Amino acid sequence: MTKKRVLSGIQPTSDSFHLGNYLGALKQWVELQSGNDAFYCIVDLHALTGDIDPALLRKRTLSSAAQLIALGISPEKSTLFVQSHVAEHNQLGWIMECIAGFGEANRMTQFKDKSAKGGADTARVGLFTYPMLQAADILLYQADQVPVGEDQRQHIELTRDLAIRFNTKFGDTFKIPEGYILKSGSKIYDLQEPTNKMSKSAGSVAGVLEVMDTPEANTKKIKSATTDAGREVTFDEKGKPGISNLLTIHSALSGKSVSELENEFAGKGYGDFKGAVAEVVVEYLRPIRTQALELLQDEAHLIKVLHDGADKARAVASATLAQTYKNLGLVL
Ligand code: TYM
Repeated sequence: MTKKRVLSGIQPTSDSFHLGNYLGALKQWVELQSGNDAFYCIVDLHALTGDIDPALLRKRTLSSAAQLIALGISPEKSTLFVQSHVAEHNQLGWIMECIAGFGEANRMTQFKDKSAKGGADTARVGLFTYPMLQAADILLYQADQVPVGEDQRQHIELTRDLAIRFNTKFGDTFKIPEGYILKSGSKIYDLQEPTNKMSKSAGSVAGVLEVMDTPEANTKKIKSATTDAGREVTFDEKGKPGISNLLTIHSALSGKSVSELENEFAGKGYGDFKGAVAEVVVEYLRPIRTQALELLQDEAHLIKVLHDGADKARAVASATLAQTYKNLGLVL
């Protein structure tokens, strides 16, 4: 049986990934490395669509690589690389912009949300064309599966639409990818505002559990998480969004099912439960943080790993781009 091709990406837009990134996507990245041909990309060009701070971008790109390796992405098992190292992403991105309609791009909710925050007139063109670059990221590798969180579903749908349109008009060129989105964990919520998703761009970091946070900081955040009326530790997304979110987090990290946890905490209060969640989260993240900090001590080695990954990625990406150009009638 031929291996499935897996591709996903993450933006280096904060000093640390958060637990939403991990449970929604990165945990699946690690699992899908085995038995598949996986490509994982730090999408630094996408990060340019927000505020650009050159020193921070460099630091966060390297920190992203260190965190991914510490979380379990093995550069031997999968291809780990930085988007800007493989120029084919920009090249196919332009083609995708010429395939996509303005109307369909304008329906992307991520663009609407992000541009609304700063005012639509100040949003940059790159934020608008972002999903077409993302489609290029995926299609260059002929990906079968794209492990992401729920918030990326619409971008994957657009990618499929663009690939189908291209193939129909210009001949079979791209594999039609599928999103790999789990039922549980694909949307982790902010601890302070448990109806909003946990996000790097949240107004306050108090509700965001970060991989690189100290154990003390994460414990404090969990202990002061917003809980709901009542005392029972039961899963009820509508009635008890705070407790349900904590149950999802505990379950994903401890491997215990939600109903096992409900039984374990029957008759105990929210305080005991939060203490247990804090312990699970902190013990899970402790070795990851330590290893990421260690890896960051040797920048030259990290950069070498990323360059090696880019060489492997380019070999695949350049073949797809050549076929795309040929099918479009560009003279090679
Ligand atoms: P990004 O960098 O915002 O997030 C990385 C991954 O984390 C998931 N995620 C969450 N999952 C569950 N709960 C949350 N609260 C939560 N917050 C974030 C995201 O769904 C994502 O999978 N556009 C992408 C990056 C990208 C990409 C790609 C992804 C660029 N090219 C190609 C896949 C394939 C993004 O902004 O992810």
